Amino acid sequence: MKRDLISMLDVKDDLHDIIKLSIKLKRQSKKGKRIEHLKGKTLGMMFEKSSTRTRVSFETGMTLLGGHAIFLSTNDIQLGRGESIEDTALVLSRYVDMIMYRAKSNDAMKELAKHATVPVINGLDNKEHPCQVITDLMTIQEHKERLKGLQFVYLGDGNNNMAHSYLLGCGIAGMNIRIVAPKQYWPEKYYLEEAKKFGVNVEVTDSLQNSTTGADVIATDTWVSMGDEVEKEKRIKQFKGYTVDRTLMGAAKPDAIFLHCLPAYYGYEVTKDVAHGPQSVIFDEAENRMWAQIGIMVKFYRDMFP
Ligand code: CP
Ligand code: NVA
Repeated sequence: MKRDLISMLDVKDDLHDIIKLSIKLKRQSKKGKRIEHLKGKTLGMMFEKSSTRTRVSFETGMTLLGGHAIFLSTNDIQLGRGESIEDTALVLSRYVDMIMYRAKSNDAMKELAKHATVPVINGLDNKEHPCQVITDLMTIQEHKERLKGLQFVYLGDGNNNMAHSYLLGCGIAGMNIRIVAPKQYWPEKYYLEEAKKFGVNVEVTDSLQNSTTGADVIATDTWVSMGDEVEKEKRIKQFKGYTVDRTLMGAAKPDAIFLHCLPAYYGYEVTKDVAHGPQSVIFDEAENRMWAQIGIMVKFYRDMFP
């Protein structure tokens, strides 16, 4: 059966299997074993926004899997000149075996998935960033050897794609989550309610006092997501004080790790000494984008063609 990855909720039943498979394929490949499970297959990658990690990790991941990836900037394909998402989905489905889409809007993402007859993978939209959060959970699993019961703390923009996918991802993984953000940047109610349904402890606060106490994992993201640039000055003022620095890191558990999906803006959401410090795992996390997506693509392909 065709399956899509639009939201973290799309992997609620097999998140652990995907993480396990990703770690297994990473180990095998690093030992020199071929992992060409998608030999002769093609991934179409549609980008409506900039990317370093998503583009390169999907493309190199496909190479390791024995397949091929095509980069499609939506400015260059006919979609940018008014061809419909429906027709784009129907046509691409005749050529490629899977589509990765980085979209400006979650509605466009859903529209593409509705009409494509091949799996559609969300490479970020305005509501969620599931590939990144699956990657982050894989990275936590590697460093902490468990997920269930851990305390996750996210500081900064609680109303963006990362915060929303973290809420769902922590819920699915059985991790307690605390979002620390100015009130006007609290998450959408829907994501808070969905996370709570998994029975984990979900806290939202604007108070920095004791905000990182008991944290096993601290994460942040840019205060100015792609598309929010016009609000840059206003946001920098409103987020003042929410920078993850040595003091906040020092108040967490001594073995706490630091995550950031990158790109990072040092001196704003995090200081460079934390991001490049001993507790940071941001470059393992960046590398794991490739391994997690390899796991996702292999699993989705196997589910479609058992
Ligand atoms: N983290 C992430 O998605 O990075 P890119 O925007 O560089 O793809
Ligand atoms: N929240 C950020 C994530 C970048 C990978 C953005 O949407 O720009």
